Amino acid sequence: MFKNPIKTKSWLKLNDHYLSIKNIKIFDLFKKDEKRFNNFSINFNNNILVDFSKNRILLETLNLFKNLLDEINFKNYIYSMLIGENINFTENKPVLHFLLRDRKNIFLKNNSSFLDIKKDIDTNLSKIKFFTEKILNGEWLGYSGKRITNIINIGIGGSDIGPRMIVKALSSYKKNDLNMYFISNIDSTDIINILNKLNPENTIFIICSKTFTTLETLNNAKIAREWVLNFYKNKEKSLNHHFILVSSNFSESVKFGINLNNIFIVHDWVGGRYSFCSAFGISISLAIGFNNFIKLLDGAHDMDLHFFSSSYLNNIPIILAILSIWYNNFFNFNTEAVLAYHENLFYLPIYLQQLGMESNGKYVDYNGNYINKYNTSPIIWGGIGTVAQHSFYQLLHQGTHIVPCDFIGEIININNINNSHLKLMSNFFSQTQALAFGDKIFKEGNWIGNNLNNSNKFIKFKGNRPTNTILVKKINPYNLGSLISLYEHKIFTQGIILNISSFDQWGVELGKKLSNVLFSFLKQKSILQKKKNKKNIYLDNSTFNLINFFNKFFFNN
Ligand code: F6P
Repeated sequence: MFKNPIKTKSWLKLNDHYLSIKNIKIFDLFKKDEKRFNNFSINFNNNILVDFSKNRILLETLNLFKNLLDEINFKNYIYSMLIGENINFTENKPVLHFLLRDRKNIFLKNNSSFLDIKKDIDTNLSKIKFFTEKILNGEWLGYSGKRITNIINIGIGGSDIGPRMIVKALSSYKKNDLNMYFISNIDSTDIINILNKLNPENTIFIICSKTFTTLETLNNAKIAREWVLNFYKNKEKSLNHHFILVSSNFSESVKFGINLNNIFIVHDWVGGRYSFCSAFGISISLAIGFNNFIKLLDGAHDMDLHFFSSSYLNNIPIILAILSIWYNNFFNFNTEAVLAYHENLFYLPIYLQQLGMESNGKYVDYNGNYINKYNTSPIIWGGIGTVAQHSFYQLLHQGTHIVPCDFIGEIININNINNSHLKLMSNFFSQTQALAFGDKIFKEGNWIGNNLNNSNKFIKFKGNRPTNTILVKKINPYNLGSLISLYEHKIFTQGIILNISSFDQWGVELGKKLSNVLFSFLKQKSILQKKKNKKNIYLDNSTFNLINFFNKFFFNN
């Protein structure tokens, strides 16, 4: 029986503790403890430093959470994951993405069936290597004999945002002349904008869809297929030169009409948003080279080891999960911002949004009961520093909402023209300071100069706004792998504490199904007659009129 967290003794104690410290000031915590940083930071191999000292917590807070983890038998959940039990129980699947990067076979002994899995993983990796080298060496040719120079990844959600985020994040590791493109949206403006400027002869598509049933991906893949076939006067053989497919749905994949060699099978136990180490990473390997792809895997693996083996309070993913629950459930700070001070981490906030909100945005618990007495996933959002500073930071500093933030920055950045990296990082450090301590940083709050009128509330910064600072030595393949794995395990830990299954996503299915029905209404090319709704769905008066208004203008245009 899984435990409802709020019915545990530890949760009640946490609540008492919250009531006793809820007005605590981060400023006072630092005044009382000059060495607060030492107790509230974790250094991961000198590569990633996580400082969580600027939070509204005491050591007691962490210890109370540790009691909660003991009371809910957190170790058992980890054990279940490690031995391959079906912890994604609504879909009857294990969750084993950590095996994809277990190149040292550390987890292999956990279950005899892992041996076969391992063989498949190795085969896939060799295939990725082979394919990467063929393209990069110029041996893989288009049907008309031209070298491939354009790579287009078609996918959506986890089959898109992981590779898209990583390829951009590691763009300084891209040493080849391949042009990388990502197409995701069903809005064909996306694909048209890209295809219009390219030539099929030197273009290869990587179609990524775990289920191979996703409308957006199938539609875009169809457009791409026709684009290639049109060019080669319908010679189907040309497809083998211009398409690669990654999926776990073999029977549907083969219908696309390409060589079996061009099809990569991804295991069913890899969730889309946890799939960057699987064959969905081909575009990553192409962009940064296979050796760098392996470093990405190794970095993720080393964070896996940290998570699975460190004690609770020395465990970065666990600490970040605890903090998230502390704010979302006790303080009722219901959103979290990811603020990346690195131009190339542009897609990281969106990536983490899917990871967190698709995993833990649920209102049914592990026992199948509705959750109505506590919050599950916070709303995750964010942006890029310093650009975001000039957009929404006003609210972070003086808004009525308090938004706990993760600040992510890099130490060694070669792009330091005109000291720009130092200027960027000065902003990085100053923002977390200002958020935590407000205008108290300046003597008597006089941050504006001699003319400050202390009673002027408009220029008052109360501070006391919590942040984590994640300082990465260098955004390289290894450290990026560790960073992503860190967040994967944070989300998993959160899910366990909140007693929810993090690895399914039923919440997106209803909308998908309904859109198919509405599509048939839109295709009618005429005004919808309410009585003729044979699909047997509830067509509300709002949607009915909206569709009719749309049809009236769309088809008469
Ligand atoms: O949006 C729901 C979802 O199922 C995601 O979880 C997944 O990453 C995405 O759609 C794409 O799914 P697929 O890889 O099966 O096309």
